[in-house]
Amino acid sequence: MSELSRIGVAIDSDLLEKFDGHIAKRGYTNRSEAFRDLIRDELVQKNWELPDSPVVGTVTLVYDHHVRLLNEKLTDLQHESFHNVLSTLHIHLDHDNCLEVLVVRGKAAAVKKLADALISTKGVKHGRLTITSSGVDL
Ligand code: NI
Repeated sequence: MSELSRIGVAIDSDLLEKFDGHIAKRGYTNRSEAFRDLIRDELVQKNWELPDSPVVGTVTLVYDHHVRLLNEKLTDLQHESFHNVLSTLHIHLDHDNCLEVLVVRGKAAAVKKLADALISTKGVKHGRLTITSSGVDL
């Protein structure tokens, strides 16, 4: 970690009160850590907007495994982008529904393309790409 810099921030009192209430509910014990997390989150978001940025994330999918050829389609898409899929977790939620979580890594554009293809596949009931960071530049 680099050395700490102290900054003063002028902020509207009402806004600060709302912020304090919000971060207390989230479990923060001090404002500084909440501000640091907001800044890091913004930097992670910005990083994902650059197509060639190296990124890390997860793709969560919920689908009915009875839908014809759906399993095969999802597996084919993952094999086509095998460099971007580090690991998968599959849970049989009930008789019909499956939850799959993929850990993905690679260039932002490639990872987003894979996530969009998986999530938009017919039969996928819900899907979400969660973006995060390898932590190196934070
Ligand atoms: Ni299953």
